[in-house]
Amino acid sequence: MPRIRTIDDLDLGGKRAVIRVDLNVPVENGKVSDLTRIDRIVPGLREVVVKGAAIILLAHFDRPKGKIVPEMSLKPVASALAKALGRPVEFIATDWRGDAAAKAAAAAKPGQILLIENTRFHPGEEANDPEFARRLASLGDVFINDAFSAAHRAHASTEGIAHFLPSAAGRSMQAELDALEKALERPERPLAAIVGGAKISTKLDLLANLTAKVDTLIIGGGMANTFLAAQGINIGKSLCEHDLLETARNIMDTARAKNCTIMLPQDASLAREFRRGAASRIAPIGDVRADEMILDIGPATVEAVKAALDSAATLVWNGPFGAFEIEPFDRGTVAVARHVAQRTRAGKLVSVAGGGDTVAALNKAGLAQDFAYVSTAGGAFLEWLEGKALPGVEVLRVK
Ligand code: 3PG
Ligand code: MG
Repeated sequence: MPRIRTIDDLDLGGKRAVIRVDLNVPVENGKVSDLTRIDRIVPGLREVVVKGAAIILLAHFDRPKGKIVPEMSLKPVASALAKALGRPVEFIATDWRGDAAAKAAAAAKPGQILLIENTRFHPGEEANDPEFARRLASLGDVFINDAFSAAHRAHASTEGIAHFLPSAAGRSMQAELDALEKALERPERPLAAIVGGAKISTKLDLLANLTAKVDTLIIGGGMANTFLAAQGINIGKSLCEHDLLETARNIMDTARAKNCTIMLPQDASLAREFRRGAASRIAPIGDVRADEMILDIGPATVEAVKAALDSAATLVWNGPFGAFEIEPFDRGTVAVARHVAQRTRAGKLVSVAGGGDTVAALNKAGLAQDFAYVSTAGGAFLEWLEGKALPGVEVLRVK
């Protein structure tokens, strides 16, 4: 496949660079409460400034669906970005109907950074309307996409615009693609994957793609219950997709045919109620009472997973093992994450994690920085794990 252009392929001196970033960050009471996505783009933006360009930032915020929703303005994000950059960021308010963006962009001087209002205030954004894409392109001389986490959307500011300007991936997108490719396309083997989360229905394509690629597939979270039930194991009143038992059996058959070992929980932390601090007990799988729920993996499973990871060279992780948001059912996820962190620090494991819940669990445990790479993407990371081409990435390949 042709390579993806990077900013090394662009001539930036004296140019106006339109840069798509993902500023869809958590905001609480008008303040950005998590800077991860902002921190990731800062070095790449500084580099573009140093190369002598003016920067016109495009981004979306939330899902206003083509309408002007004042609560979904990017304005509060502009100041957080300026603070992280240590440079002024001029916010350009616009309803995208008038020409405020065009006027501001035309006047931008090298080193100046503009952030234009939420692109999703215009219906042409999500429709990937070529006319709107052309208007966005007219804001600058080159286009840089530094929003991997929005690259699964074929929108005017992520895909359409790239047809009208010399285009390239920004530094954080480049780093993300490098890390993901190393993990799944050319990994050092054995390659293990941990897939958790509540449901298999949302991860069928992902499981199909991973069984074909990984050596060991470790299944946790609520979705493991469906696999256990599919083998006739009594899981009490645990979360389970009873209409997908056949599907779960098919996944296990495919895995066997492809020499992928599937690991399921051997023991579990069980409770009768789903709440913080609920009375719980540890028991082997197969010993779950009718009124109990599986809410986390137990210590025997933690040990088995650690042993499996000791013989792996690469790990891709998406989804927590248990109900990590309520203690004590975060223990399994945290214990495994600690082990992964330690193996990674020792240079024995390349560990890549992604997806909203996974990153939240790693941050809560204070372990995210010990992983080789933590993706800031949710949906885009999942689609990538499913083996799907991401439109915002594909359009950046050398033609
Ligand atoms: C995200 O937050 O995952 C990305 O910014 C994409 O947002 P979206 O799911 O609203 O397209
Ligand atoms: Mg989202």
